[in-house]
Amino acid sequence: MSEENLSENMQDEVMELIVEPETKPTKSKEKSDLKMEKLTIRDLPGVGAATAEKLESAGYRDLMAIAVATIGELIETTGVSEAVARKMVNAARDSMKMGFETGMDILKKRELVFKITTGSENFDALMGGGFETGAITECFGEFGSGKTQIGHILAVNTLKEDPTSEVVYIDTENTFRPERITQLAEGIGLDPTEALKRIMVAKAYNSDHQMLLAEKVDSLITEQKKSIKLVVIDSLTSHFRAEYIGRGTLSERQQKLNRHMHTLARVGNTHNICIYVTNQVMAKPDQFFGDPTASIGGHIVAHASTFRIYLRKGRKGSRVAKLIDAPNLPDAECCFEVQEQGLKDIN
Ligand code: GTP
Ligand code: MG
Repeated sequence: MSEENLSENMQDEVMELIVEPETKPTKSKEKSDLKMEKLTIRDLPGVGAATAEKLESAGYRDLMAIAVATIGELIETTGVSEAVARKMVNAARDSMKMGFETGMDILKKRELVFKITTGSENFDALMGGGFETGAITECFGEFGSGKTQIGHILAVNTLKEDPTSEVVYIDTENTFRPERITQLAEGIGLDPTEALKRIMVAKAYNSDHQMLLAEKVDSLITEQKKSIKLVVIDSLTSHFRAEYIGRGTLSERQQKLNRHMHTLARVGNTHNICIYVTNQVMAKPDQFFGDPTASIGGHIVAHASTFRIYLRKGRKGSRVAKLIDAPNLPDAECCFEVQEQGLKDIN
C-alpha cells in the first residue's frame, strides 16, 4: 500500500463525516440543513487532499457523483483500497437522503424531460416526440447513413427550442461543419451567428482526451454556469476502435468505454441533458441470416444507451431509422431524407 493510501486509511478512522457549520444557527432544523449544504467530497472518510484532487479532476465534484459511482470506478480513479472506496460511497449515500420515491415523484421528474425534435415528424414519432434529455441516445449505422447530419440537426433544434440553451459538440473525426450549422439554422429561422456562438466544439485527439472532455462538461455547467442541453459525441467509438487493435486489448478497451459511458450517463442524468452519440458498425462475415453488421463497443455501449437507433440507407437516397429496445416505446422504423434544410419525411 502506498504511503498516501496508508495515511488516508488512518484519517479514515478518525474523520467525522459531518463538519460543524462555522456560524451558529438558531434552530436545530436549520443546523442540520446547514450541515448538509456544507458537505463536500473532501469531508468523506478516507478522502485526503490528494484523493480529492484526483476525484475532482476525474469529474467527481459532489457527493452525488460519489454516491452513484461504482466501487471499481473509485478504485481506478484514486487508487484507494476497496474498503476505503466502499466507505466513501456509503458515507456519500447516507448524506444524500437517497431513499425511495413515489411514482408521483418520478412522474414529476419526467415532466422536466424535454424532447429535441429532428424536423421529421416520422422520426420524432418513432422517438416518442423527439430525442430525450436525461438520456443517452446512440445512432449506429454504416458510413453516410446520416449519423453526423442528425448531430448537426439536433444541435440547431436544441438552440431553437430552448433559447437559453447551449450545445457541446465533441468531434472525433473532424466532421463538424459550421457551414452546415449555418445552413440548418437558416432553415429553421435561427440566426446562424448566434447559433454558432452557442455551440462549443471540442476536437478529441484520442480516447483519453475524449473521456476528459466528457468529464469537463460537468464543470462547464457547475462552474461556468453554461446551460447545456445537448452533448453530441461524433463518433463515440472511432478512437477506441483505432487505438485498441487485436483481441488482447479488447477487455481494456471495453473497460475504458464502460467508464466513458458511465460519465456520460451521470452528466446526462444529473443535469437533464440529451446525450447523442454516434457509432459505427462492423461487418460480421459469419452471419448468414438477419443483419450482417454489429455495432462497435458491443454490450457495454448498447446497455448504457437508453435509446438505440440503427440507421441505414434506403431506396433512392432515403434513410431508414429503426428504434431498438427502447424503454417505453415499441421497436419500429421510419423513413426520411437528409435535405438542405434538415430532415424530411418520406411516407
Ligand atoms: P460516417 O461518419 O462516414 O460513418 O457517416 P454518417 O452516418 O455520419 O453520415 P453523414 O451524416 O455524414 O451523412 C452523409 C449524407 O448526408 C450524405 O451522403 C448526404 O446524402 C447527406 N447530406 C449531408 N450534407 C448534406 C447537405 O448539405 N444537403 C443534403 N441534401 N444532404 C446532405
Ligand atoms: Mg459521420
